[in-house]
Parts: sequence; structure tokens; C-alpha cells
Amino acid sequence: MEKDIYILAIESSCDETAAAVMKNGREECSNVIYSQIELHKLYGGVVPEIASRKHIEKINQVIKEALRQADKDLKDIDAIAVTYGPGLVGALLVGVAEAKAIAYATGKPLVGVHQIEGHIAANYIENKNLEPPFMCLVVSGGHTHLVKVLDYDEFEIIGRTRDDAAGEAFDKVARAIGLGYPGGPKIDALAKEGNKEAIEFPRAKVDGNEFDFSFSGLKSAVLNYLNQCEMKNIEINRADVAASFQYAVIDVLSKHAIQAVKDAGMTKLAIAGGVASNSSLRENVKAACNKEGIEFYHPSPIYCTDNAAMIGTAGYYNYCKGVRHGLDLNAVPNLKIGERL
Ligand code: KG4
Repeated sequence: MEKDIYILAIESSCDETAAAVMKNGREECSNVIYSQIELHKLYGGVVPEIASRKHIEKINQVIKEALRQADKDLKDIDAIAVTYGPGLVGALLVGVAEAKAIAYATGKPLVGVHQIEGHIAANYIENKNLEPPFMCLVVSGGHTHLVKVLDYDEFEIIGRTRDDAAGEAFDKVARAIGLGYPGGPKIDALAKEGNKEAIEFPRAKVDGNEFDFSFSGLKSAVLNYLNQCEMKNIEINRADVAASFQYAVIDVLSKHAIQAVKDAGMTKLAIAGGVASNSSLRENVKAACNKEGIEFYHPSPIYCTDNAAMIGTAGYYNYCKGVRHGLDLNAVPNLKIGERL
């Protein structure tokens, strides 16, 4: 019988301090997340300096707790996986320095993981039968990518946003209608009370690549709508604005993703990243997939947000492929997907 592989994974790319222990890639032994959201809410968004300081304060406790919940000791761990980009440089550095220190002290291999590859790998945790190739729509606060997942370590980006990420648009529109941070979940909830066809917001067409996205025009259209209502003294129905805006985003995401799967001759579509927990996005993409005979995969919300379990899964596949990083591994805030440093 083959030996089980245990990965200790660390993630600190933005405002979650997270550690997990994963067995053989897909079996979660523990997944501990300390979220800093309450701290950053005060400022209406993530404050990088505060995020880094809080990571330093919390990271040892979070790792200890992940090992405790998994009932493992560092000596039982086969490798340390860590997110080294993309993300906030000061935040990433905390996880990377911690992982390097553990790797040095224990003599265990160090495996750097790309955060977006981690988000994609989140789909493997609960969908035990999911294997590449498949198409993945990655939608988070910082990224909107359509990615062909050709193998566990082989990716091709076929579409990306030209301006704002989908999550960023959610956050900005939420702020404009007074919902606060983080906006995505609040718009998701309020939209349920609104009419998605009440206001016709634009769906941007982008020249050059039919799979690219653009959300800044939509965001401006919402702001213009709000300003005009104010000037004309028309009462704003925030639920209708939330529902109509959300529908405009989802409509584009869903259509691009389905078309991409068909064009690539693939049969499976996965979604990943913070926005992938949006209930209407899930319903819409699921219905479209059913209609087209495409298998649809998505992680539970806990694996859509930044977490270390997904880093452990991606780290496991990298580890099996022989990826090893030296103690000179650095944080790379703008790391490109599929790029190995
Ligand atoms: O992946 P994530 O946790 O962090 C990174 O960007 O790495 O994504 C956070 C983003 C935020 O913009 C947040 O507003 C959005 O995901 N989000 C949502 C929902 N939950 C989180 N957007 C729409 N609907 C949601 N339910």
C-alpha cells in the first residue's frame, strides 16, 4: 500500500490567515481560517498594513490549531505548501516566511502555490471524481479569469477582465448603495428581494477576445443611474439596483463560460473564487449547464473564500509532480498563472 501524503498548507495572501492539513490531496484533516473582515470593515476595504500585522499576530496560532485538529505533529507532515502569489506583498510575506522557517527547522520540502491555482483546486476537495481537463471560471475580488485546466499543473487562460474584477465590481456597487464591505454577500442577499429586470444595465462587449470581460462600464452605469435618480428626486429601490446589477454580471460570466466550454470541446465547467459563492451565479450557471449537457462543479462557500485547504490540494499535486522550492522563495504579488519561479 502506498504511503499517505500529508501536506501542511498556509495561506495569507489577503485578509484571511489560514492553515490546513490535507491527506493525499483531497481529504481534509483540518481547515482553520481566521478572518480579518471585521477589522477591515471599518475602512470599507482591506488595509494592507493592518492585514500584514494581523497575519503576524495570528499565524502561529492558526497553524498550531490546524495541526491539533488534524491530530498531527510536524514530524507527520510530508511537505509545507504556501501561497506565494498573487496577493498583497506584505500579507504574502508572512505566510512565505513562516513556511520557510518550518521547512528549514524540520527539513521538509517547501512547495510554493499560486493562489488562483489553489482556487481552481478547491473544486477537487468535494468533487472526488473531478479530473482535468475542464474549464474553470475564476471570479474573486482581484481576478476574473476563464481558465482551461488541461492538467493538474497545466493551465491556459483564455479570457480575463480588462479592468475591474467581478468581485471588485460587487464591492464598489455595494458601497455606492450603502451596503458596506464586503459587498458581494450583501448584494447577493438584497438581490433576492429585487427585480433583476427592473433596470437595464449594459453588458460590455470587448474587442479582440470574445472571452475577455469588462466591468468598469457596468459599474459606471450603476453610479450614473444612482446620480440621475438623486438629481430627479426619484426614490431608489436598492433591491432592484442590486438584482439588476448582479444579473448583468452573472449574465456575462455565465454566457462566456458556457461558450468557452463548447468552443474548447470540453464537457465540464467549474467555478472558483469568492464570487463563486454567489447563489444566483450558481443557479444560473447550473441551469445553463443542464441545458447544454455540461457537468457543473463548484466548491462549498467555505472553499470559495481564501482558505488553506485549497492550497494544500494544489500543493499536493505540485508535490507529486516534483515541484520543490528553495529557502529563497519570495512573495510575488503579481504572479502569473501557470508561471513557475
Ligand atoms: O476569493 P476571495 O475571498 O478573495 C480574493 O479576492 O482573493 O474573494 C472576495 C470577493 C469579494 O469581492 C467579495 O465581495 C466577493 O468575493 N464575494 C461575493 C460573494 N461572496 C464573496 N460576490 C458575490 N456574491 C457573493 N455571495
